[in-house]
Amino acid sequence: MADKTVVLVFGTRPEAIKMCPLVKELQARRRFNTIVAVTGQHRQMLDQVLKVFDVVPDYDLSIMKDGQTLFDITTATLMGLRSVFEKTHADVVLVHGDTTTSFAASLAAFYLNIPIGHVEAGLRTYNIFSPYPEEFNRQAVDIVSKYYFAPTANARDNLLKEGKDPKKIHVTGNTVIDSLKYTYAAEYTHPELKWAKDSKLILITAHRRENLDHLTDMFRAIKRVVDEQGNVKAIYPVHLNPRVQNAAAEVFGNDDRIHLIAPLDVFDFHNFIARSHLILTDSGGIQEEASGFGIPVLVMRDTTERPEGVKAGTLRLVGTEEEMIYSSFTQLLSDPDEYSAMSHIANPYGDGHACERIADVLENE
Ligand code: UD1
Ligand code: UDP
Repeated sequence: MADKTVVLVFGTRPEAIKMCPLVKELQARRRFNTIVAVTGQHRQMLDQVLKVFDVVPDYDLSIMKDGQTLFDITTATLMGLRSVFEKTHADVVLVHGDTTTSFAASLAAFYLNIPIGHVEAGLRTYNIFSPYPEEFNRQAVDIVSKYYFAPTANARDNLLKEGKDPKKIHVTGNTVIDSLKYTYAAEYTHPELKWAKDSKLILITAHRRENLDHLTDMFRAIKRVVDEQGNVKAIYPVHLNPRVQNAAAEVFGNDDRIHLIAPLDVFDFHNFIARSHLILTDSGGIQEEASGFGIPVLVMRDTTERPEGVKAGTLRLVGTEEEMIYSSFTQLLSDPDEYSAMSHIANPYGDGHACERIADVLENE
C-alpha cells in the first residue's frame, strides 16, 4: 500500500527527458503514490517527450505563451502549483535541474513546508549570468532542498564547498543516461539520415536566452564552414522559440546542405546524436548525451556546468563569436588526429541506474 506521495514537477523538454524515467521507476514501486504535475512551460516540445515515454500528467498548468517572460513563467508556476501541492498532500516534491519551472516549483513547495528533492543538483558555473537565468535557478533550488541528487562527484563537491549537509547529498549519476535506455536503437533509420548518408553529419541546436542576440554570428560561422567544406551536411531541428526560428531561417534559409527541420522527438534525436560526426550546440543536456556516445561537441557558450565532458575530451567550449566558432569547426573537420582525440566514448555522467538510486533513497526514508 502506497504511503508516500511524491509529486514530480517539470515543464520543459529537457526536464521531461530526464524525469520521465524516474516517473516510471517510482510508479513501479508500491511504496509511492506517484503524481506528475507539468507546468507546460513548453507545450509541443514537452508533449513530444510525454508521448515517447507514455507518461500522462495528473496535472497540467498549461502556462506557455509566445514571448513568455521570466515573470510570466515564475508567477504562473508559483500560483498554479500551490493548489496542486495542497490538494495532493505531497510528502515530497521532486524538481529537476535549473529551469524557471523548477525554481518556482521549489519556491511553492518551500512556502508550504514540503520537503524538496533536487534531481541533477550541484551543477555550477558560479557566473550568475551564464547560463541566465539557470545558474540562479539551480543555486536557489539548492538553498531549499532536502535531498540533493547529484549526478557526478564534481556536482557533489560543489555542494560540499557551499556547506551543504553531506548526509543530504546522494551521488546517483544523471538520469539522462537512464533515458537513453528507452530511446537508443541499434537499428535505426530516418529520411534525414538517408539524405546525409554520404557526408559527415553535423547536428546543430541552439536556444539559450543569453545567446539570442548572438545567434546570427553563431549561424554565420556554421554556414561558412558547411559551404566551404564539400563533404558535410548539417541537420538543425530548430527550437520553437520564434526568435530562434527567425534567425535560423534568415541565415540558413536557402542552403541546400543545411536542413532546418522541426524539433525531433527524443527517440529520433538520441538516434541522430549517435549517428553524428560532430555536434554544435549551446544545450546543456546534449553535452551529456554526446559524451556517452563519444561524439565530439563544440559548445557554443562561454561557460559550462559540465566540466566532466571537457576533462574527458569530448566537449570543447568555443564561445558565441563568429571567428572562434568558424576556426574551431574548420580545424576539427580538417585534423583527423584532433577529431579522433575528441571522439572516444567517455561516460562521466552515469551508468543508467540513477533513477533506481533516487527511488532507493526516497524509499528508505
Ligand atoms: C527553457 C528554459 C531553459 C531550458 C530550455 C530547454 C527557463 C528560463 N528556460 O528555455 O533553461 O534550457 O527551456 O529548451 O526556464 N516554444 C514553443 N513551443 C514549445 C517550447 C517553446 O512555441 O514547445 C516557444 C514559445 O514561444 C516560448 C519560447 O519558445 O515563449 C521560449 O520558451 P521558454 O521556455 O521561455 O525558453 P527556452 O529558451 O525554451
Ligand atoms: N532534443 C530533442 N529534440 C530535438 C533537440 C533536442 O529531443 O530536436 C533533446 C536532447 O536530446 C536533450 C534535450 O532535448 O535531451 C536538450 O534540450 P534543450 O537543448 O532544449 O535544453 P537544455 O538541455 O539546454 O536545457
